[in-house]
Amino acid sequence: MTLITRVGVRRVLDSRGSPTVEAIVETESGGRGRAIAPSGASTGAYEAIELPPEEAIAAARDHAVPRLEGAVYAGDQRGVDEVLRRADGTENFSEIGANSAVAISMAAAKAAADVLGAPLYQHLGGAFRGRNFPVPLGNIIGGGEHAADAIDIQEVLAVPVGAPNPADAVFANARIHRSVGDRLQGEGHSPGKGDEGAWAPAIDDEAAIELVADVTADVADAVGFEIVLGLDVAATELWTGDVYEYSETTRSPGEQREYMEELIETYDIRYVEDPLEETDFAGHADLTGSVGDDVLICGDDLFVTNTDRLATGIEADACNSILIKPNQIGTLSDTVDAIELGRDHGYEPVISHRSGETEDTTIAHLAVAMRAPYIKTGAVGGERTAKLNELIRIAEDA
Ligand code: PGA
Ligand code: ZN
Repeated sequence: MTLITRVGVRRVLDSRGSPTVEAIVETESGGRGRAIAPSGASTGAYEAIELPPEEAIAAARDHAVPRLEGAVYAGDQRGVDEVLRRADGTENFSEIGANSAVAISMAAAKAAADVLGAPLYQHLGGAFRGRNFPVPLGNIIGGGEHAADAIDIQEVLAVPVGAPNPADAVFANARIHRSVGDRLQGEGHSPGKGDEGAWAPAIDDEAAIELVADVTADVADAVGFEIVLGLDVAATELWTGDVYEYSETTRSPGEQREYMEELIETYDIRYVEDPLEETDFAGHADLTGSVGDDVLICGDDLFVTNTDRLATGIEADACNSILIKPNQIGTLSDTVDAIELGRDHGYEPVISHRSGETEDTTIAHLAVAMRAPYIKTGAVGGERTAKLNELIRIAEDA
């Protein structure tokens, strides 16, 4: 029933106005799935390769499409992803592009769900999923590679851990975002927004964290549930090879670790992503050793959703959380493997968007299917709210 009869690939727009790859998978029984690859800006060096969309599309048409059509069942996700791997023939999808691979992989899953007449999360996770929902991490003030002349740390996040349901969490984050914008305006800044919709004022990192902390405390009081703070430092982007270079200062690796501990302590931060650069497993282990009982230390560029890198991290006790981005590794099967390997070793999965996004909602379903405790998908902006609104719908319909 789910035999793939057609795979189409085309260029569509992403939220930065750049082209990206959309895939359409059709099955024998009339099932249809469509999915779009996202795209990063602060990409890790060890990610699977994103090719220019036209190249990725041409290569996918040459190598992958003929091996899928009439040959593989969309419901056999491992089979689809295995064919994508073989069609590519490299370790990192440098032949057909991780953008083509992930779009086809996700579109196949959606086509199979369509045949079943089931929501995607149920096809991916099984009949007993749809009772647990991830807490959304809302990007409130941002900078780094996502906005010029803004803060050095990439993201200051609100994390509504006490929200009774996804809708309350989503609205709390939006309220914090709006209120922070009002406060910035009132203080004479007229901030634009970065790629993920976070405010991008020209203030320093600690002023940004303090403002988000202040507003978050007020909103938590008003809504009556606990909301904590998180950071995505994206430290690789600050790393010169010798030191971490901030606008006003530089920090040695040891100083960077101390700075992280200081911020965690001062602002009661409970989630820190990429506090150190993407090769420093030992430094991550030191930080996790000192604060990991109370704080999630999450590897994004460190692990790139890759089970080999995660295995190295597990061996080193590097972190206690892993960021999960399907396009970093190229297929849903590899993505699920990374989630499960992490889980087996006490690493909490955080399912994540990219800075370049679209209306695609696959990650909302993936988070519910895998019972991920967190999802990172921004706070506002159409390509962000696409996922958040989908989460609200899933929670209500389940
Ligand atoms: P990216 O940023 O999508 O630009 O890589 C997101 C992140 O670092 O989490
Ligand atoms: Zn990150």
